[in-house]
Amino acid sequence: MSTDRQRVVLKLGGSVITDKDTPETVDEAALERVADAVAASLETGAIDLVLVHGGGSFGHHHASAHGVSTTAGTHDAAAALAIHEAMKRLNAAVLAALRERDVPALPVHPFSAASRDADGETDVPSAQLETMLGEGFVPVLHGDGVVQAGEGVTVLSGDELVTTLARSLAADRVGLCSTVPGVLDTAGEVVPRIEHYDEVASALGESESTDVTGGMAAKVRTLLELEAAASVFGPDDLAAFLEGARPGTTIE
Ligand code: IPE
Repeated sequence: MSTDRQRVVLKLGGSVITDKDTPETVDEAALERVADAVAASLETGAIDLVLVHGGGSFGHHHASAHGVSTTAGTHDAAAALAIHEAMKRLNAAVLAALRERDVPALPVHPFSAASRDADGETDVPSAQLETMLGEGFVPVLHGDGVVQAGEGVTVLSGDELVTTLARSLAADRVGLCSTVPGVLDTAGEVVPRIEHYDEVASALGESESTDVTGGMAAKVRTLLELEAAASVFGPDDLAAFLEGARPGTTIE
């Protein structure tokens, strides 16, 4: 494999590819646009891509029904399976859209491989992903349940997967494609670049209590810690991001 290929870890937000208000509903039109952009970007052969997708109306619905979050777990195997199976259904829909466009996408279900210790440190093995990339495949992971010491099964968010994989796979670029066009300031304008959290602290607000799997403040903080440059952008900018541009907000 040539060494000048860029390694890109991209998360597709759950609200981008699902209808968040209707349980277990894929936003087919949005998913097709996303799959078109991914397929087009791979034709140039310039990137190795790892995809991660969120839960949207698949994962969150089951997780909250069973009182499971990133920190509160369950020892009820049926509850854990309900979350995992829902995420697998969404993953199958994403895979199908990519396969229709001849993207060499293969599923990787984090629940079957990852684990978390009692301090909340998550271990996601990377050897399988390295081998997949080396063989020219596009691994497609997703937010999922994860076994956690002392908690049973908790939620592993797509955002956490992205930051973990960006490190373990030494990604060159990270992309978070969500429903907003970037990190917004208090006037609702996209902040083009963030190098220090202080620059946006007041715009983002200090409270993260409304979104435990990662409001924008938490996202920005963790992305700033990465070696790789990260971009936060909306679906309209996905193709540009994959072609190497830096749409939305660049965090590095
Ligand atoms: C959630 O993943 C996964 C589950 C609830 C099982 P994310 O937290 O990454 O999903 P989105 O992108 O916010 O929908």
